[in-house]
Formats: sequence, structure tokens, C-alpha cells
Amino acid sequence: MKVVSIVGARPQFIKAAVLSEKLRQQGQEILVHTGQHYDDNMSDVFFDELKIPQPDIHLGIGSGSHAEQTGRMLIEIESVLEREKPDWCVVFGDTNSTLAGALAAAKLHIRVAHVEAGLRSFNKAMPEEVNRVLCDHVSDALFCPTSNAAENLRNEGITQGIHVAGDIMGDMLKRSLERARKKSKILEQLDVQPKNYALATVHRAANTDNLDNLKTLLETFGKINRIVILPLHPRTRGMIQRNGLTLPESVRAIDPVGYFDMLQLEANADCILTDSGGMQKEAYWVGVRCITLREETEWVETVQAGWNRVVGTNPGLILDTVLNWLPQGERKDIYGDGETAGRIAGILEGMRKMDMP
Ligand code: UD1
Ligand code: UDP
Repeated sequence: MKVVSIVGARPQFIKAAVLSEKLRQQGQEILVHTGQHYDDNMSDVFFDELKIPQPDIHLGIGSGSHAEQTGRMLIEIESVLEREKPDWCVVFGDTNSTLAGALAAAKLHIRVAHVEAGLRSFNKAMPEEVNRVLCDHVSDALFCPTSNAAENLRNEGITQGIHVAGDIMGDMLKRSLERARKKSKILEQLDVQPKNYALATVHRAANTDNLDNLKTLLETFGKINRIVILPLHPRTRGMIQRNGLTLPESVRAIDPVGYFDMLQLEANADCILTDSGGMQKEAYWVGVRCITLREETEWVETVQAGWNRVVGTNPGLILDTVLNWLPQGERKDIYGDGETAGRIAGILEGMRKMDMP
């Protein structure tokens, strides 16, 4: 089996790492990096730490408007796919790299496999929601983390190729947590004690492009009764710098960190405040309360389980939740058993042999 996998953004490197290993045991994988993320601490660090094979092809697309970035990716990915003629084009998540890979492949009649299919925020103002919906509707194999995600697809009339396979980020987390605990020195470097700090990340368009929201969030972080560690996405750092925003004293902005440092920061935080998708799940897995700085979430199971509260950017609600809320529920394996990658690789091979669907 020959597969072209498309990655480009930070969470996709983490998702692709485990699947890449399985695909290469079973056949040929050509890993394509679109270059959507390019800073060392947004890209290289993950390849090094997680021992991801170096990309076979690096497109070097970089940043741009949605149309510019996606359009350039489409053109480049099309020529890769025409040359390589894979059995599958595998795409992950919901970024512009995901959409470009799916669209380029579908138009060439190359089968598309979408890992993390069926997630919905039902908010089309999110660029990710547009990417997800479009990608799912041209995919031949749709790997859903949960049965709820599969139900979302059926509600949109997608009936073929759906597989509830579990969440692939769980595979990586389960194998990395102990390693992170032993390897990471981030708590010492930042001079913070376990459970004595909050961890925050902000990078969504709704929270960064909207200056009022960003200001409100930073001010609110300053009112939390403990140190807030804030690994800054370059997009957020750019907004802060361009607008001359100053951070409250208790908010410690740091550069983006590698995966092991992030797991260590997450596992030892008192709480996680975030608009990240991946970090809502990671908070659940490490058993740390998550306060989601958005109006809605795709990861509804973490909310239903009682470990995630969706509070938007309302300062009173954020502070009240940080101060007064403690999760009660037990943490079941709502996102699978950590064996998702093997399952996906097996299904891809099976579908190829049966010549689909
Ligand atoms: C992208 C994804 C988002 C995902 C996030 C993961 C889209 C539409 N969005 O958002 O779904 O949650 O990745 O982190 O695909 N920049 C740098 N260096 C980098 C990368 C980005 O400086 O290595 C800056 C550039 O100014 C760029 C901005 O960050 O314009 C935004 O980057 P982009 O990849 O377009 O979107 P993200 O916000 O990272
Ligand atoms: N992450 C990281 N370092 C950071 C911020 C995030 O390693 O400084 C990891 C995080 O642990 C998770 C993934 O990146 O595994 C989430 O990426 P991000 O929040 O950028 O994107 P999203 O999941 O929202 O698409």
C-alpha cells in the first residue's frame, strides 16, 4: 500500500507521528509537509522529539491569507499526487493543509482518508469548521474519534466509509506521558511548583484577530490568583506586539514549547485555560480541569464527562470557574484505547484490497 500523508501544522505532526510508524511497517508512506507552520518551535521540535521521519517532500508554503495559502498548497499537492499516484491520501484534523490535501486528491480520484472526521462546532465563522465539513464530504474513509462524530456525519448524509476508530492523539499521549515526566525540566526552568500555576494557550482567530477579546483574556488571566504560564503561539505574540499590549505581572508568556514540555506543564497545572482543540482532550487525559475559552466545543464528551467547562471570553465566568469549580466525574476512555493508529492502518489496507468502498 502506498500512502501520501499531508501535514503542515503543529497538531498534525503529533497526529501523524504514530500513524506514520504503522504505515511504514505495512507499506510505503510519503510524508508531505506543506510548510504551514515553519518556526523551529512550531515544527522541527516535534519531528526531533517524536522521531517523526523527516518529510519526504517539503512544500515550503508558509503563511498567507486563507485563499493564498490553501491555493498554493493545492497546486503543489496536486503535482505530488500526480507523480506519486498513491492508493490513499491521508489528511488530519481541520487546517488549511487538511482541506488542500483532501481537495487535491479528490479531484484526481485518489482516495482520501480523513483522520479526526465528523468533528463539528456548528459555527461556520471558524475557518476550521469550513475545512472539516468540506474535507469530510470528499473523503472515502472517515476515521471518527467517537460515535458522536460518526453521528454528525450521518446527519449530513454521509453513510459510507465511516469508522469509529478512537482518537489518534490519545495514542501519542499514552506512550509519552511517562517519558515527559522523566525528560522534561520545564517546571524547574520556569521555577513553578506542581498545582501552583494555571496553564493557558490562545490562538484561535476569534480570540486573536479580535483585539477586544484578546485584551479581555489577558486582563482576566492577570486576575487569576496564581501564576499563569502562557506559551504564546506566534500569531498571538504578533497581535500583542503589533498592538503594544502589556501583560499583567502574574502572566508569564513563554515561547511555544515542545510536546514533552507541554505534557509536563499540562499534567502539573491546577487548571488549563485554552481555545485549543488538542489541549481540551489532553487536559481530560491527564485529569486536569479544562476551562475552554470559546463559545462552543467540538469535544463535547469532555464537557459531558464533567471535566471541561466552555466559558467563552466572559471575565466573570472565567474567574468564577477557576475559583469555584472542581470536576467530579470519573474519567472513562471516551476517546478510545490508545490503539487508534494501528486500527486506521489496518482499515486502509483492508479497503484498498477490497478495492473500496
Ligand atoms: C492553524 C490552523 C488551526 C490550528 C492551528 C494549530 C488553519 C486555518 N488554522 O492556525 O486550525 O488549530 O494551526 O496551531 O489552518 N506563524 C508564524 N510561524 C509559524 C506559523 C505561523 O509566525 O511557524 C504566524 C504567521 O504570522 C501566520 C499566523 O501565525 O500568519 C497564523 O498561522 P496559520 O498557520 O495561518 O494559522 P494558525 O493560527 O497557526
Ligand atoms: N502544544 C505544544 N506546545 C505548545 C502548544 C501546544 O506541544 O506550545 C501541543 C499540545 O500539547 C497539543 C497540540 O500542540 O498536543 C495542540 O496544538 P494547537 O493548540 O496548536 O492546535 P489545535 O489542537 O487547537 O488544532
